[in-house]
Amino acid sequence: MKNFTINNPTILHFGKDVLKELSKTLIEYGKNILLIYGKGSVVKNGYYQNVLNLLKENNFNVFEYPGIKPNPILNDVEQAVKIGIENKVDAVLALGGGSVIDTAKTVAVSIPENLNPWDVVKMNIVPKKSLPVITVLTLAATGTEMNPYAVIQNLETKEKIGFGFPIMFPKHSFINPEYTYTVPEDYTAYGIVDIIAHAFENFFGKGNSPLADRFVASIVKETMHFAPLVLEEPDNYDYRANILLQSTCALNGITSYGKAGGDWGVHSAAHILSLIYDMPHGATLSVVYPAWFKLQKERIPERLSKLAELIFDNSDVDKFISDLENFFISINSPINLKSEGFDDAEKDVILQMMKQNSVNGNTYQLSEDDYSKLINLMFG
Ligand code: NZQ
Ligand code: ZN
Repeated sequence: MKNFTINNPTILHFGKDVLKELSKTLIEYGKNILLIYGKGSVVKNGYYQNVLNLLKENNFNVFEYPGIKPNPILNDVEQAVKIGIENKVDAVLALGGGSVIDTAKTVAVSIPENLNPWDVVKMNIVPKKSLPVITVLTLAATGTEMNPYAVIQNLETKEKIGFGFPIMFPKHSFINPEYTYTVPEDYTAYGIVDIIAHAFENFFGKGNSPLADRFVASIVKETMHFAPLVLEEPDNYDYRANILLQSTCALNGITSYGKAGGDWGVHSAAHILSLIYDMPHGATLSVVYPAWFKLQKERIPERLSKLAELIFDNSDVDKFISDLENFFISINSPINLKSEGFDDAEKDVILQMMKQNSVNGNTYQLSEDDYSKLINLMFG
């Protein structure tokens, strides 16, 4: 077992009516609030108005930055930082999914010392302070509501980078499962893939921790159990609540207790597909994971059998991979690029971008030869 330190300071408020605590919580940090949200789902579904009413009733000064896109971009971070600095905001309130929350975290950590956000994302500088981040989560997927990470794209340099500092944990996160009833079928499925992928990444981290392995397997099994239920009945409170709890736990630290973090090679490769084709994060992962398992099955057979056994009570790795593919197909998340209509000519585009972004895992290093093998497997 590896040495490890646990300190997850995010206060999580989970359940119906949790938002009634929002104003009381925010007032601890000040009156000037920068409210960040996405492209309109929160307005259409009434969550924005609910939150705004709570803030207005309590005389907060609200400055808004809407329009964050899925796979969020640096340009939005930069614009929101300007608004925050001009208006001397005291805290950043994120209302949305992972893209909104990751933007809010990056904005919050750039404002106090007026840092260049891209230097922060590249971890060229170590920020000393962050404005408090408070999140109202609307989509089960990333776990960002209870972790110190963010993922930002720079369309000019063509990079998608995940980064984190301990000061980036949200101070408070509010999760009302009812706010996720409206997540469409496709993004519900992509979120489910992301949860499973986070559990897998941690399973392949360095270190031996059987308890963490079992946390991983439990999360994957529970997510697979609730997936068809929640897709069939999207406004079932218990189904949505269970998926949300699984998403938070898949990346809030518990799956890597006793380990040196996760591998993250699959995420690293998957980010390339988001970068080039703007594919949703979960859809990229259901393409890359089966390919990565096929690439690694002769190299790490014992570890893969262990995962197969823990999840499906059967240590046959080929069966594990095909069961996993069938599961992804059953929830309509793609398992290869060919069936998505990608032309073979794209293989080279992907390869060049993988090289440029130095795609790699922490535990299992990927050579340039592996990139080509992985890409071929991704095409099915
Ligand atoms: O933009 P709006 O109109 O709000 O619509 C969003 C968006 O189109 C919609 N949506 C969100 N909540 C909704 C809803 N629609 C109806 N009802 C609701 N309640 O869903 C779409 C996707 O939203 P997004 O925030 O992009 O999804 P997700 O939460 O999956 O976040 C993906 C981003 O997180 C990063 C990914 O790379 C990607 O950029 N990740 C962040 C991590 C972290 N910080 O720890 C870890 C992950 O591995 C992941 O990489
Ligand atoms: Zn992910």
